[in-house]
Amino acid sequence: MLQRAVDRPSIERVQPLQLSVVIPTLNEAGNVEALLGKLGVTLAGIEWEAIFVDDGSSDGTPELLTRIAQSDRRVRVIRRIGRRGLSSAVVEGALATTTPIIAVIDADLQHDERILPDLYRAIAEDAHELAIGTRYAGQGSTGEWDDRRLKVSRIATALASPIMKTRLSDPMSGFFAVRRDVLLEAAPSLSNVGYKILLDLVASAPRPLKVAEVGYTFGTRVAGESKLDEMVALEYIELLLDKTLGRFVPVKLVQFGAIGMLGVGIHLALLWLALNLIAAPFAWAQAGAVVGAMTFNFALNNIFTYRDRKLTGLNWVRGLISFYAVCSLGAVANVGIGSLVYEQMQGWWIAGIAGAIVGSVWNYVASSWLTWTR
Ligand code: GDD
Ligand code: MN
Repeated sequence: MLQRAVDRPSIERVQPLQLSVVIPTLNEAGNVEALLGKLGVTLAGIEWEAIFVDDGSSDGTPELLTRIAQSDRRVRVIRRIGRRGLSSAVVEGALATTTPIIAVIDADLQHDERILPDLYRAIAEDAHELAIGTRYAGQGSTGEWDDRRLKVSRIATALASPIMKTRLSDPMSGFFAVRRDVLLEAAPSLSNVGYKILLDLVASAPRPLKVAEVGYTFGTRVAGESKLDEMVALEYIELLLDKTLGRFVPVKLVQFGAIGMLGVGIHLALLWLALNLIAAPFAWAQAGAVVGAMTFNFALNNIFTYRDRKLTGLNWVRGLISFYAVCSLGAVANVGIGSLVYEQMQGWWIAGIAGAIVGSVWNYVASSWLTWTR
């Protein structure tokens, strides 16, 4: 017995950590100190640590956190460079922990940290696997939200219900605690797009989870500003699509195809304008419309479909040229396959569609490889 104690490497003996609190930050310098103060008060009696995951804040947040972490052992900081995304930040922070229970809370003090001990105990003592802070049950409320934001949140929540394996009153909440092994089990299936990590989690877990809900009132932001913009709705739809269609077709292909359809509209509009406004010869008008439509498709795919590897400056020009090249080959494939099908079946529209599909899939595969290289 004595012998074993002597042989052991000298690891300092401390109380084992019980809870990791993952906190995503993007320009939250005005909030993190206050949050840590509040966590210290509310989590007294629990062995906890805070893991901040910062995505390149420009307001001094990571520097401030680094300074705090140097004198406070409970604080750790993960800095990500060149990447953005609330969900993926949370997952990365959670995977960097070793505690049996992981909580997630916003840095901006809008989540009421005083329910954290309840969330923790629901898992540690009551055998739940997941415990969420909810604004739509028990004592919960959305605080000072206007009608518009309430409506949007309701619609988003309704849209989520088909993909949830676990019933939640507030799947939009980013405030929850989860058992570490449950998160790890779901991790390989997470979509990791956008903001809705809790929804992603209950949609990706292989089975319904045993869940507890604790009401809280959503606070008003005092310092800093919200990062939710127009893209958030799009990313939400992307998450829903990935969780449904995503098993069969890549969501990027669906987006690429939808933009392609818009491109057809642009093509026809440009053709009409060239023929009617400047009385261009048909071949010239058609050529101009093709270039216009390709440019339009490139620009839109760069903004939406390939937002995560967006090209700018000189790379934008290079990308456009490679996109023209890819699409030219796509057109050759389109005409070739179309003609082949037409010879076999004589159906002009089946041949047309077959050619268009093969051409588009080529454009998608080749451009994701050559134009929007990782
Ligand atoms: N690392 C990282 N990367 N953090 C981010 C990013 C990002 O790209 N975007 C936002 N954050 C951080 C913010 O700094 C903040 O701590 C937290 O994530 C929430 O961002 P807000 O911009 O304050 O969003 P919100 O208040 O509108 O949304 C919150 O409420 C929703 C409920 O209506 C979030 O908690 C959502 O998850 C929640 O669903
Ligand atoms: Mn917020």
